[in-house]
Amino acid sequence: MGQHKQQQQQRWRVSGLHAFAVLYLCCAIIDLTLAEIEPKLEIFPMQGVQRKPVGKSLILTCKPIVPDPNLVSDLQWKDNLNNTILPKPTGRNQPPMYTETLSESLALMITSLSVEMEGKYYCTASYANTELMNTSVIIKTYVAITWTNAPENQYPILGEDYTVKCEVKADPNPTIDWLRNGDPIRTGDKYVVEAHGLLIRNVQESDDGIYTCRAAVIETGELLERTIRVEVYIRPVITHLPTTLEAVEGKPFAANCTATGKPVPEISWIKDAAQQNVATADRFQVNPQTGLLTINSVSQDDYGTYTCIAKNDAGVVDKKTKLNVLVRPQIYEFYNVTGVSKKEIAITCRAKGRPAPAVTFRRWGTEEEYAPGLQADDERISLEQHFDEERGESTGTLRITSTTRNDDGLYQCIARNKGDTAYKTGHITVEFAPDFSHMKDLPPVFSWEERKANLSCLAQGIPNATIEWRWNGRPLKDAYDKNLVIIGTGPRSDLIVHPVARQYYSVYKCIATNVHGSAEHDMQLKEARVPDLVAAAIPRQLTATTITFDIRGPPTELGLPITAYSVQYKEAINPDWSTALNRTWSPDSPYIVEGLKPQTAYQFRFAARNQVGLGMWGVNQQQSTPRRSAPEEPKPLHSPVQNDKEEPVVVSPYSDHFELRWSVPADNGEPIDFYQIKYCPGVKMAGTWHELENQCVSQDVVETTSYEMSRLSGNTYYRIELRAHNVIGFSSPASIVMKTTRGIDVIQIAERQVLSSATIVGIAVGGVLLLLFIIDLLCCVTVRMGVMATMCRRAKRSPSDIDDETKLGSGQLVKEPPPSPLPLPPPVKLGGSPMTSPLDEKQPLQTPTGSMKQNSTVEFDGQFVHSRSGEILGKNSAV
Ligand SMILES: *[C@@H]1O[C@H](CO)[C@@H](O)[C@H](O)[C@H]1NC(C)=O
Ligand SMILES: *[C@@H]1O[C@H](CO)[C@@H](O)[C@H](O)[C@H]1NC(C)=O
Ligand SMILES: *[C@@H]1O[C@H](CO)[C@@H](O)[C@H](O)[C@H]1NC(C)=O
Ligand SMILES: *[C@@H]1O[C@H](CO)[C@@H](O)[C@H](O)[C@H]1NC(C)=O
Repeated sequence: MGQHKQQQQQRWRVSGLHAFAVLYLCCAIIDLTLAEIEPKLEIFPMQGVQRKPVGKSLILTCKPIVPDPNLVSDLQWKDNLNNTILPKPTGRNQPPMYTETLSESLALMITSLSVEMEGKYYCTASYANTELMNTSVIIKTYVAITWTNAPENQYPILGEDYTVKCEVKADPNPTIDWLRNGDPIRTGDKYVVEAHGLLIRNVQESDDGIYTCRAAVIETGELLERTIRVEVYIRPVITHLPTTLEAVEGKPFAANCTATGKPVPEISWIKDAAQQNVATADRFQVNPQTGLLTINSVSQDDYGTYTCIAKNDAGVVDKKTKLNVLVRPQIYEFYNVTGVSKKEIAITCRAKGRPAPAVTFRRWGTEEEYAPGLQADDERISLEQHFDEERGESTGTLRITSTTRNDDGLYQCIARNKGDTAYKTGHITVEFAPDFSHMKDLPPVFSWEERKANLSCLAQGIPNATIEWRWNGRPLKDAYDKNLVIIGTGPRSDLIVHPVARQYYSVYKCIATNVHGSAEHDMQLKEARVPDLVAAAIPRQLTATTITFDIRGPPTELGLPITAYSVQYKEAINPDWSTALNRTWSPDSPYIVEGLKPQTAYQFRFAARNQVGLGMWGVNQQQSTPRRSAPEEPKPLHSPVQNDKEEPVVVSPYSDHFELRWSVPADNGEPIDFYQIKYCPGVKMAGTWHELENQCVSQDVVETTSYEMSRLSGNTYYRIELRAHNVIGFSSPASIVMKTTRGIDVIQIAERQVLSSATIVGIAVGGVLLLLFIIDLLCCVTVRMGVMATMCRRAKRSPSDIDDETKLGSGQLVKEPPPSPLPLPPPVKLGGSPMTSPLDEKQPLQTPTGSMKQNSTVEFDGQFVHSRSGEILGKNSAV
C-alpha cells in the first residue's frame, strides 16, 4: 500500500514538474503576447491554493490585466457554492465575507475563516463586452493548536485522585506530553498521561508545583506549551466544638468552632430551629476566620441546637452542638394560704429557670429546708416537686396533713439551680376554734372593800373570737347590772365588777366563739382577807445585840401572796406594846432584829401582810440577849476554789497584791474598833502547812471592810487570818488560804524597762546626796556644825529618840505609830497557830493611814434589809 502511495506521489511530482514547464512556456508565450494585449485576471497572492488557519482573516485581490482597464466590466467574486459575493453593505455589521473595490481590482475580504469556507473561489469579469475572463483560487483551512480545557490554575484535593486537565484541539491531531518543573513525566504508579489530562494518584501536598502540558502537530510543525500551576487543597475539618455549651441568661457568651483546611475555611453558625445563619441576628457576631461566636447578652430563646459549618473550595463540613442557657431561677407564684387546724393545707410555689430549678421550702427564720417526700422528723409534712425541663418550669408543693396551730407562720420558698437561688416568703394561716388553755392556771381575781375588779378574758383563735359573758346561767348584756360593765367583745373582753354585795363574789363564764367553734372559761371573783396568824417564828441565832428568826408564814391563797412580815419588840419589863419598836422584812430575807441591848429580856410578836393589809399580831416570844462579848467572826467575801481533799484556796488575780474584803460581823454589844489582818507565806509539805514565820505581816485596820495586801510574791500561798476586835476582845479568826498568780517575771521586766531610764537620774541624785553626806560628816567631826551635828546634840537629850532617829538614818521606811494610850491586850493565839506578830504589842491601835472604804458591801448593815439576795448594801454601822 505505502509503496503504491509513494509511486503515486512520484508520478504527481513528475506531472507537476511537467505542468510547471508547460505553464512556464505558456507564460513566456503570454508575456510575449501581452504586448499583443491578451486580457486576463490575476489573483494575489498568486498561490493557487491558500492554506490558512481557522479563525484568521484573509484578503484575496483579483486584478484584471488588460490593455484598457476601462473596458472591464462585471468584475466579481464567487464563493465556493458559486454565489456572487456582495460588497459590504453600508452601516451594517460586517458579514463574514464581502468584496471591496480597490482602484482597478476587487478584493475578497474574509473576516474570520471557518472550515465551511473551504473550496474554490472564482473571480470573473468581461472585457469589451465580448470576452469573458475568469480565474480561481482554492482556499484550504486547518485548525491550530487551541487549549479547550486546560486551566492555568488547578486545585486537586489532598488524598484523592485528580486529573490535571489539558484538553487540546488541533487539526491535524496533536501529540501531547507532560513536564513537571522542566522534567518529562512518564506514566507510572504516580502519574498516568491520559488523553485529556494527567492523572495524579493519591494527591499529596508535595504534588504542588508547575506542570507543563505540551502539544505538537507534526504536519504543521506547530508546538505549543501550557504551564499549569497545581496547588493541593485540603478539605475542611472541624477540630474543636464542644458537644454542649452553657450560657447564662443576661450575660455575654462566646464559643469557638475551629476548623482547619486549605484554603482557610470560612465558618458560619446556623441555629437549627430557625434554619437561620446567626450572623444575621442582632445580638450575635461570628468571626468567619476564627469561628468565634459571641452573644452580647444571652436570652432564654438562644437555647437550642446549633450547627457550625466550615467551608472552603475543597469542601464543606458541619458539626452540631447544643447551647444550654442557664436561666436564673425566678419565683413567679407563691400565694399565702389559709387552712383550718387538723385539716390538710398545701402551699404551692412556682418558679422558672434553666435548668428547671429545684423548689423547696423552709420555715422563716430557720436554716433547715424540707427534703423531697415525707419529712423524717414530721411525717405530717411532705414536699412534692415537679419539673418541666423542656419549658424550664418547676413547682414545689408543701403539704401538711392534720395541721396544728404551730404550723401557722411565714414560710420561705427557695428555687435553686446552677445559676442562682431565689427566695420568696409567704404565709400559712392556720385557723382554729377559740382556745382558753393559756388561761387555765391563772389565779382567781381578788377584791375587797368594794374595790372594782377586772376580769379580763382573752381567747386565742383565728379568726378572732367574739366573747360573751354569763353569770348564774344568764347572759350578761351591757346595762344588765350597773355593777357589771363589759369592755370589749373579743378577742379580749374585760368584765369590770363592782362587788357592792356578797353575790358579786361569784363565778363568771366567758364564752368565745368563731366560725370554727366555741370555748368557755370560768373566771372567779373572790373576796380577799388579810393573812392569818404567822405560823411560827423561831430564834435561830443569838448575839448580844441581834436575834435572827426563822419565820414560817400562814397558809396563803393562789393569787394572794404574803408581801411582808413585821415584828414588834419591846423590853419585857415594859408592858406597853404601843411604845414597842418594829421592823418589817420582805419575805425570804434574813429576818434579823438588831440594835438590841445585851443581857436584856425582850418580847417579840409577829404579823404577816398581803395586798389587803396587815394580819393579826401573834406568836408572842420572850427572849433574853446574852451578855456583851467579843465580836462575832468576820466573814471574808471570797469564793475559794475547792480542790479535792485540800484546803479551799482563794486565787488572787494578781501576782503581787490581793484585796481582802469581808462583811461586818455582829459586834456583840460593843462597837468594833478595828480588824486585825495577819498573813504569812507558807508551803505545804507532806500535807502539813509550814509558815515562813519571819515573813509574816500583821496589820490593823479601822473603819473599813477591805484591806490591800501588797508586795506579795508571785505563785505563793499565803495564809490569812482576820479578826474583829472590840473593847471586850478579838473575835475568833476567820482563816483563808490565798495563792498569788505566776506572772511576776512579766511584771519585773516591765518594771525594769520603766526603771532603766529613771536609774540614771537616780544614780546621779544618789551621788550628790552621798557627797553632801560626806561633807556634813566632816563638818560634824571637825567644826561640829551641819545637820548631823544638830542631830548629835538632840540625841544627847533622849536616848529613845536616838534609837528612832538611827532607824530613820539607816533608811528604814516603816513609820512608827504614836504610842497607844490604851492598855495592851494580851497576845492572842490565832487559829491554833503558835505565831504572834511582833508588831502586835506595839500596835494595838492604828491611826488611819490608807484610804478608808466606807459604804462597802456587807452582809447586813444593822439597820434595814433591802434585798432578798442576801447581800445588802448599807451604811457600816459597826465601826
Ligand atoms: C402574705 O402574708 C404576709 C404576712 O402575713 C403579708 O405580709 C403579705 O402581704 C401576704 N401576701 C399576699 C400576697 O397576700
Ligand atoms: C383589765 O386587765 C387587762 C389585762 O391585765 C388590762 O389590759 C386592761 O387594761 C384592764 N382593764 C381595765 C379597765 O382596767
Ligand atoms: C384580732 O385581734 C387582734 C388583737 O386584738 C387585733 O390586733 C387584730 O387586728 C384582730 N384581727 C382582725 C382580723 O380583726
Ligand atoms: C413602827 O414604828 C413606827 C415608829 O417607830 C410607827 O410609826 C409605825 O406605825 C410602826 N409600825 C407598826 C406596824 O407598828
